Amino acid sequence: MKRFLPLFVTGLIMLGGCGLEKPPADLAKELDEAEKAGQPKTEAAAPAAAPAPAPAATPTDPALADGKAVYEGGCNACHDSGMMNAPKPGDKTAWAPRIAKGEETVIKNTINGLNGMPAKGGNAALTDEQLTNAAKYLISISK
Ligand code: HEC
Repeated sequence: MKRFLPLFVTGLIMLGGCGLEKPPADLAKELDEAEKAGQPKTEAAAPAAAPAPAPAATPTDPALADGKAVYEGGCNACHDSGMMNAPKPGDKTAWAPRIAKGEETVIKNTINGLNGMPAKGGNAALTDEQLTNAAKYLISISK
């Protein structure tokens, strides 16, 4: 027995160190929990990497990007809420009959006003080009 004692002790240490310390069931549970803990992390990372929703995205066309900036600089006061039936950006149903009139007419109405829509959207400082860009931007995200 004496000769086998060191081997026996080594065996016990090994068993104690990794074999018997955690019964397989516990280990499986722990792995399962680690996996679950890891999952929300990957889920949380996914939306952050996803592109912003389409209406908020800045258009790549510089004229439309300018139009978006113009829109957000005041037109949104009426149009975001649909105040006085101002057509909301992205509301295809509201925009369809307007777009059907032709882009030129819609742009003209943006510059000259139309019923509750004040001329130049109520901002006399805006140039015709800026107003055209804003109208084109609204049309582009609403058709
Ligand atoms: C005071 C509120 C108000 C503001 C500010 C405003 N709008 Fe309007 N807008 C309206 C209303 C109301 C209508 C619907 C008019 C109608 O058809 O009777 C409208 C309609 C429009 C239309 C559709 C025109 C058509 O021919 O059907 C466009 C395009 C438009 N607005 C662009 C703009 C832009 C660009 C700005 C900012 C420069 C702006 N609006 C600011 C109230 C507003």
